[in-house]
Amino acid sequence: MTKPSAEALKAEILRLTREFAALQHGANRPSEENDAPFVPGTTPVPYAARVFDAEEVTAAVGSALDFWLTLGPEGEAFEREFAAGLGVKHTLLVNSGSSANLVAVATLTSPKLPAARRLLPDDEVITVAAGFPTTVAPIIQCGAVPVFIDNDPVTGNVRVDQLESAFAAGRTKAVMMAHTLGNPFDLGAVLEFCRRHDLWLIEDNCDALGSTYSLPRERAQALGFSENSPGLPSDGVHITRYTGTWGDLSTQSFYPPHHLTMGEGGAVNIVQRPPLKTYAESFRDWGRDCWCASGKDDTCGKRFQWQLGELPRGYDHKYIYSHLGYNLKPLDLQAAIGRAQLRKLPGFTIARKRHWQALRDGLADLEGFFEFTLPTHARRWQRGEFEWDDSGARADPSWFGFMLRVRADAPFTSTDLARHLDARKIGHRRLFGGNLLRQPAFVQLRRERPQALRVAGEMTGADELMERALFLGTFPGLTPAMLAYELEVLHEFVRSRP
Ligand SMILES: Cc1ncc(COP(=O)(O)O)c(C=O)c1O
Repeated sequence: MTKPSAEALKAEILRLTREFAALQHGANRPSEENDAPFVPGTTPVPYAARVFDAEEVTAAVGSALDFWLTLGPEGEAFEREFAAGLGVKHTLLVNSGSSANLVAVATLTSPKLPAARRLLPDDEVITVAAGFPTTVAPIIQCGAVPVFIDNDPVTGNVRVDQLESAFAAGRTKAVMMAHTLGNPFDLGAVLEFCRRHDLWLIEDNCDALGSTYSLPRERAQALGFSENSPGLPSDGVHITRYTGTWGDLSTQSFYPPHHLTMGEGGAVNIVQRPPLKTYAESFRDWGRDCWCASGKDDTCGKRFQWQLGELPRGYDHKYIYSHLGYNLKPLDLQAAIGRAQLRKLPGFTIARKRHWQALRDGLADLEGFFEFTLPTHARRWQRGEFEWDDSGARADPSWFGFMLRVRADAPFTSTDLARHLDARKIGHRRLFGGNLLRQPAFVQLRRERPQALRVAGEMTGADELMERALFLGTFPGLTPAMLAYELEVLHEFVRSRP
């Protein structure tokens, strides 16, 4: 008997893998294909979960069989495909969203940047108080000072009216904040502020992949944007672009609850300026000066001709370090999974929006007890439609979650609601760390080194979000039966209160 070739064996393993995944992972498929039985009150309804099918599992097994291991061909393909889909110059894969934020801030500290723009020790970065801790921690880890302004409790995003009072001439160098739960922050106002004072903008887009933001054409052009993101239709009035493509740098997380996943993983997007890619890549890859891809040599054509620092002329460029870097690369296998997920992203985005609307519609009669998040620039929601403010700007979130705030005069607290949902096996989350200034790590930091951060103004919005907000899931694996159960449980909860 002739031995099967390696290729034939691989094909057979992948065929079996596909068959296995179809049998094993039915409950993880997108909601339309999820054929697992749902028993209300028994089957958990998570706030988020991985949504995948045989494609992701075969991609992972295929990559494991190839055994490249370190970031390689799949990683390069992912970076190219992701950047092209979003419409940014470059995407760099890293091993988490937190690492992406670290690399993004570190990039702004590069000595290769013009002195006036470089983020130096004790320079300030404006951020918001309520959100995820690793949007802020990298600012401190890179030696800069976060300056906290408040969140608007209605959108969950930055209160742009506080930007100017937070600005300190000569010290403020950047703004870094997240699009809260997928809701784009007021990019028009934030970018105009950044342009006025020559500041960098890092968009933490970890929770907002697929969200779009529109500005009236003239206002967008004044900020340097004349085109929509790839594939987005034009209405003739606005420039519409994905979040993560308006700032200088933006970041993604590919941890399971996020809009697409590769297990662990993240990315830094370099929106327009190619040199930032070289610096970001250097910080990701040990701080090296050389920019050769894995397995390649002498991309610069003068590997043995450089004279940098106090090294001897001709010292191997591969081992020249121009930054104090890290190693934050993921595995190639993760990128292989990410590529399969990327193909599903348009469908995921539609599902997230649909699930948000279903919850909003279904809870419309509970407005006496809850206040619901509005997209930035929306004034109110009425029968499926938003009424917009006069700015002409629009936000269209690909929602990470469905956030509600228990009204201050409701006959129950957000903790009562959380307990009830838990008992009914409905997953929910707080807005991450709430007002981060109240977290033990930040309290301790302020006590030990008061100058390590600055608080500009009152944090009433952040406190309100911390005390009264919860969010439910909108992830693409939720089925109509799960959503109906969530609505039933919320109504039952409100009815059961005195
Ligand atoms: C806004 C935001 N930024 C950053 C992160 C960190 O991402 P990761 O968990 O991949 O480190 C998260 C995590 O969920 C997040 O919500």
